Amino acid sequence: MSSPAFDVQSIRNDFPILHQEVHGCPLAFLDSAASAQRPQQVLDAIDHYYSHDHANVHRGVHTLSHRATDAYEGAREKVRAFINAKTTQEIVFTSGTTEAINLVAASLGPSICAGDEILITHMEHHSNIVPWKMLCERSGAVLKVVPIDRDGVLLTDKIPDMINARTRLLAVTHVSNALGTVNPVKSIVATAHTAGVPVLLDGAQATLHAAVDVQELDCDFYAFSGHKMCGPTGIGVLYGREAWLERLPPWQGGGEMILSVTFTDTVYNKLPYKFEAGTPNIAGAIGLGAAIDYLLHIGRGNIAAYEKYLLDYLTDRLAQIEGLRLIGTAPDKAGVQSFVIDGIHPHDLGTVLDHKGVAIRTGHHCAMPVMDFFGVPGTARASLAFYNTTAEIDQLIDALAVAREMLA
Ligand SMILES: Cc1ncc(COP(=O)(O)O)c(C=O)c1O
Repeated sequence: MSSPAFDVQSIRNDFPILHQEVHGCPLAFLDSAASAQRPQQVLDAIDHYYSHDHANVHRGVHTLSHRATDAYEGAREKVRAFINAKTTQEIVFTSGTTEAINLVAASLGPSICAGDEILITHMEHHSNIVPWKMLCERSGAVLKVVPIDRDGVLLTDKIPDMINARTRLLAVTHVSNALGTVNPVKSIVATAHTAGVPVLLDGAQATLHAAVDVQELDCDFYAFSGHKMCGPTGIGVLYGREAWLERLPPWQGGGEMILSVTFTDTVYNKLPYKFEAGTPNIAGAIGLGAAIDYLLHIGRGNIAAYEKYLLDYLTDRLAQIEGLRLIGTAPDKAGVQSFVIDGIHPHDLGTVLDHKGVAIRTGHHCAMPVMDFFGVPGTARASLAFYNTTAEIDQLIDALAVAREMLA
């Protein structure tokens, strides 16, 4: 296995947080699927905005308000180009993936009737399960779940039989956070569209790792979070096909989302503002724009190739540990590897690893149905980003040996 040409050390210099010790050991941050780290360029963009340009957007005639508006709308254009949406009207800023999915569930709500069906999959994050369950509870609709196999592969051949005239939406994750599985979303969308069913893709785990082109995927909605792709927390995006966003009613009322208000009538604003009630997360959007600039500068092809190299290295090394079971062994995966070790609770493992400077995630990863499927209360999960190194993976493997000696 040879490393693709990639100057990871110079990239790491952009991330101040990576250069620290935890419990006297160098930090090995292997938890980017929960939240990735930010490069200095993103921190600087946010700092510059607050230090020089902050004012409320879309409202003022003064210079700072113009600057803030230009920077905020400039960030929207960066997002549009990043996912190749047709227009910026299709880019709605939200607080994250969770809010984006809740927006669609809430706005779709009035058109869903008792007996209608929403289709999701067994590998969804709770944020792509619970909003749909709540919608079903409100409307009397039925939630149906596409199964997975023991490798964590989605059984896509079941989808055509699970779709019928009552299916109102298919909501599916692009990349599973618990298993790392990359789903063949383009063909899933095509299958659903053949039956006239719109598709929402949960892209929370996808945008850091690979190029996303919503026109090529042909999806109707695509949701993702800034903090999972080196941007700030509290900012995310709902891409919606323009025709869908036009058709859906707004989900929250307030300032910004209206053109005129009297006590009898309200005229809603045009897209995308119809879905952005209240003062938005201006600094968050600007930080996300800076994160996009940064990722594009490194090159998404370079990122994908290097992460594949790291994932292969991680999986190989973990597989050699006696008593360790890999959870999530699909052929097409992003940089996530879950595992359990016989006789050791994942939380105990995580605590010992932390004392060796290694940050991994332990627990159910907000995907309890996946844990139930594999018959485990939780897993340990190492997740990778382009700023990780094989030395950090070695540190994890060494720490696992210590943990096994202490806990097994
Ligand atoms: C696949 C997936 N979907 C949705 C989410 C929710 O993202 P957020 O908490 O940023 O809204 C996550 C977060 O871990 C995720 O991994």
